[in-house]
Amino acid sequence: MSALVNIDAQRIPVALSHQPYEVVIGGEGLRGVGKELRRAGLKEGIKVLVVSNADVAEPYGDLCLQSLRESGYRPTLLVIEAGEDQKTPVSVALIHDAAYEAKLERGSLMVALGGGVVGDMTGFAAATWLRGISVVQLPTTLLAMVDAAIGGKTGVNHPGGKNLIGAFHQPRLVLIDPSTLNTLPEREFRAGMAEVIKYGVIGDSALFQLLEGIQELNTPSQLHQDLLEKILERSALAKSRVVSSDEREGGLRAILNYGHTFGHVVETLCGYGTWLHGEAVAIGMVAVGELAVLRQSWNRDDANRQKSLIAKAGLPIAWPKLDPEEVLYTLQGDKKVKDGKLRFVIPTGIGNVEIKNDVSREEIRKCLSELS
Ligand code: NAD
Ligand code: GLY
Repeated sequence: MSALVNIDAQRIPVALSHQPYEVVIGGEGLRGVGKELRRAGLKEGIKVLVVSNADVAEPYGDLCLQSLRESGYRPTLLVIEAGEDQKTPVSVALIHDAAYEAKLERGSLMVALGGGVVGDMTGFAAATWLRGISVVQLPTTLLAMVDAAIGGKTGVNHPGGKNLIGAFHQPRLVLIDPSTLNTLPEREFRAGMAEVIKYGVIGDSALFQLLEGIQELNTPSQLHQDLLEKILERSALAKSRVVSSDEREGGLRAILNYGHTFGHVVETLCGYGTWLHGEAVAIGMVAVGELAVLRQSWNRDDANRQKSLIAKAGLPIAWPKLDPEEVLYTLQGDKKVKDGKLRFVIPTGIGNVEIKNDVSREEIRKCLSELS
């Protein structure tokens, strides 16, 4: 079967001991999804529930279903509402209803065709249907391609907070078709670029330099195809490396939360919907960069390089007007608080970070006053 699969695709292994899988970038893209499923060992003839939303199903649904049929699968499509506010147990119940209607069995498959919202919900529905069936991720936003689709974190939101209900459930395959980004709104593309910059700072100085060298980082249509695929490849490699060595976030995986601690505060206090997740992470990276400079872990030049790159990507860098005491209170409620101590991922160089749980409230107050 593999001889029929396009050889031009980049293949990044996610080397988990119990269930390794590949992140496939390019090649035939969605046109080749059926062949890639066969290569990943998913049996011909099985039922496949493809979950998507209208923004994505309209341009890409037929292509995906046709490819699945051509490779001998029996697909049905479920189109759910788009948006973060749909990332709830109610939507998961809709997916389960469709699974019931389609009579999905243990050997059946769910496929998530969409951004991180569709991916997280479908992954969670697959994790819980019949105590767990296979899932394949077909990410169509930059953020989902470089982050959400890889690594097996699935879940939905609870009124008390984001992603509070969830499970680890690794996909059998992640297939990235970069051409789907052609229809993605530019603001969403830029938000995804924040996570790419994150990988540069936390572990890949060559990626950071590559991004610094690109003139038009804020305009996706100006980004050359080769550069885009390079960015996708380096990001997938970065995520795969971290997930392979710490699947369940026992330690190292926490570095992926770089910029997210302050970012979540921005999301919470400015109101969900004011900033996209990636935009809040961008603001959070600038803020934690300032904290690192104050703690003398990072030099001013590197912090400025990070800020310039984020601004060049068309992302926000300014800390919003927020009451510092409210910020501290919100930080205390963050999922990343451990044993009552605030945990921050602090940069020590471009390509290096440390996880620290000794940041004092005074340091945060000082940092916030420098930022405003
Ligand atoms: P999203 O899924 O909401 O997609 C953004 C918007 O773009 C939506 O309106 C969607 O319909 C539209 N869209 C998607 N692909 C498109 C395309 N190719 N063409 C046109 N429109 C398209 O947002 P997102 O940024 O992809 O994902 C955010 C979610 O991901 C959050 O819920 C976040 O919690 C989650 N996330 C999960 C992980 C993880 O490890 N599981 C990591 C990061 C983020
Ligand atoms: N996006 C953070 C993680 O996958 O762990």
